[in-house]
Amino acid sequence: MSRPARFRVAWRAEVDIGVGSPVRERDSAPALATVTRASGDLVAWHRADSLPVSPPPRNVLRVIDLHCHVLPGVDDGPGTIEESLALVAAAQANGAERLVATPHVSSQFYNESTTITRAVTELNARLADGAHTTAAIDVLSGAEIALARIPELDPDELLRLGLGGGECLLLEPPASVFAPGIEATIDDLQARGHRVVLAHPERCAIFHRDPPLLQALVDDGALTSITAGSLVGRFGGVVRRFALALFEADLVHNVASDFHSIVRRPPGAVGELEQAGLGGLADWLTREVPLAILESREIPPRPAVTVPISPTKNRWRKWRRQP
Ligand SMILES: [Fe+2]
Repeated sequence: MSRPARFRVAWRAEVDIGVGSPVRERDSAPALATVTRASGDLVAWHRADSLPVSPPPRNVLRVIDLHCHVLPGVDDGPGTIEESLALVAAAQANGAERLVATPHVSSQFYNESTTITRAVTELNARLADGAHTTAAIDVLSGAEIALARIPELDPDELLRLGLGGGECLLLEPPASVFAPGIEATIDDLQARGHRVVLAHPERCAIFHRDPPLLQALVDDGALTSITAGSLVGRFGGVVRRFALALFEADLVHNVASDFHSIVRRPPGAVGELEQAGLGGLADWLTREVPLAILESREIPPRPAVTVPISPTKNRWRKWRRQP
């Protein structure tokens, strides 16, 4: 009997092309995901610890992914250009028309705008021949800037780190339960003409502890970007319930993939939104708002779509946005 075809997905992982095959980082490792669909040189999969997520039809390319780690060798994203190309192809298979590369600018990954711009140019050059994708796709420059790095960055460098080269900054709050100076830092950035998008507040302990702080930041002009995987439990039940509570409180402006790798942190957003019952907001969250951000326009009003009520065990359910 012949050995089944294998497909290299990323991070040295190989999977058998066959629905139900496990995805592992090495042969003896536990399964991280299961192949759910395979055709040509693309496979779809879902993580072993979450429900399957169906990608949208491949001919619908409307998503502008504002937060992803697609550049090779600059942070905890892909290690090689080949892995980056596979990630772009997978993002496109999940509906992406445009990606904003947002490598970490943090104390761990000390990236500068020159490094990021060069890597974006090289990746776009490799994509230009169309050999890896089914349609043209743009990768724009950006960064995910840790709050603690803001004071060290001069104004010109901050401008160069904006999403798509604009004034909008993707700000990563700390993982800790306290974030001294977060309000003053955001106020200062806004006074200097920046729009601030808070990266994955649903995964931040400080906002779990103090949701009104997040509400106050939004009331003062900050936008929020939820990670798609949070909506389907990839970061656990607490994060999922808090993410749903933020939707109920009308504190979510964008959903992005924050993808890092094909296996562990995969591309995708629309499938996750649909699975969470939020498909009616998908276009607004993943296209209209990102376009407004990249074009420095006002954020369009959120469509009047009913947001599903989160489970009764959601401890944030009683917290509501105050008028
Ligand atoms: Fe990120």
